[in-house]
Amino acid sequence: MADEKERLQEIAPPPMAMLAEVTHRCPLACPYCSNPLELKAAAQELSTEEWADAFRQAAELGVLHLHLSGGEPASRRDIVELVSAAQEADLYTNLITSGIGINEKRLDAMVDAGLKHIQLSIQGVDEETADLVGGYKGGYKRKLQLAEWIGARGIPLTVNAVCHRTNMASIPEMIELALTLGAGRLEIATVQFHGWAIENRSQLMPTREQVEATTQLVEDERKRLEGKLVIDYVPADYYATYPKACLGGWGRIGINVDPTGRVLPCHAAESIPSLEFENIREKNLHDIWYHSSSFNAFRGTDWMQEPCRSCDRRLVDFGGCRCQAMAIAGDANAADPACHKSPLKDKMVEMANTAANSGDKIEFVYRGR
Ligand code: SF4
Ligand code: FES
Repeated sequence: MADEKERLQEIAPPPMAMLAEVTHRCPLACPYCSNPLELKAAAQELSTEEWADAFRQAAELGVLHLHLSGGEPASRRDIVELVSAAQEADLYTNLITSGIGINEKRLDAMVDAGLKHIQLSIQGVDEETADLVGGYKGGYKRKLQLAEWIGARGIPLTVNAVCHRTNMASIPEMIELALTLGAGRLEIATVQFHGWAIENRSQLMPTREQVEATTQLVEDERKRLEGKLVIDYVPADYYATYPKACLGGWGRIGINVDPTGRVLPCHAAESIPSLEFENIREKNLHDIWYHSSSFNAFRGTDWMQEPCRSCDRRLVDFGGCRCQAMAIAGDANAADPACHKSPLKDKMVEMANTAANSGDKIEFVYRGR
């Protein structure tokens, strides 16, 4: 038994987190949504019992944190039962929500069922911008209302803000808004170009100057707000020297389960055509985590090509983002083109510059519409 444990540990440590995309349904239509272009229909979604079983399997496998996400997870009528099932499995449950579809009664029911933390997305710092980006009139006001209810109940709150060319100038206001809403943490993530964001690349791509100014601003604000607000920041890496260690390394930390039960190493992994994904309806999570071809595809370093294979940073950034390598290099085994050692770095910067300087007219392609 001990040998078996050691052998599995060599393949990968147990996962820490599960991102459960319980539905793709969402009242918002953000133009950078990370959901795939082909959204799954409600009729294909896992049932309450199937999700409850997935949570039990996750806990047995070693998962500690469950992120209930979507789409909008509150679009599921059984969201309270899902929280309850997660609590029974002894998972620390976080709800990632747009705030739409949650009234006070529902919030209380989720808290009573064991919800521990809420991440609330904001699409802008004023009503007009937020509702324009989210594609949902009245959304901003409802988010403010929900934040107030959350604060009144003392539930830890993180505000999530995706930043892009059209809102990067308002990051100081976003920080103030997060403080006003009573958040203990603000997550500022620069838009990742997968799924719907690719459709809107020319509207969303930040300029090099914006990225540099934002990085400096976040650094200064972290110092100023130490002890008051934690700021997590995912910078854009198109103009950087090195890529980000996407996912903390493929198949090392987390599991994504899509609304239909397909288990993915990354929410954008479908963009890599050579991968095949298993379904929790057909196989148990333990086998998928340790033995599936998709999770093992980019574990370790054997899959790497040069320049990653002999690079000192190969266990620091794990060769960067596999989905970005696929999107720009057309090869998921290549070095992430964000890396200065990649032969495609110049092409990537040129692509980013072209998109970032393509004018200020906003004509979003909204998700699902
Ligand atoms: Fe990372 Fe590969 Fe670049 Fe080295 S060559 S820094 S491992 S992406
Ligand atoms: Fe899939 Fe980076 S987004 S590996």
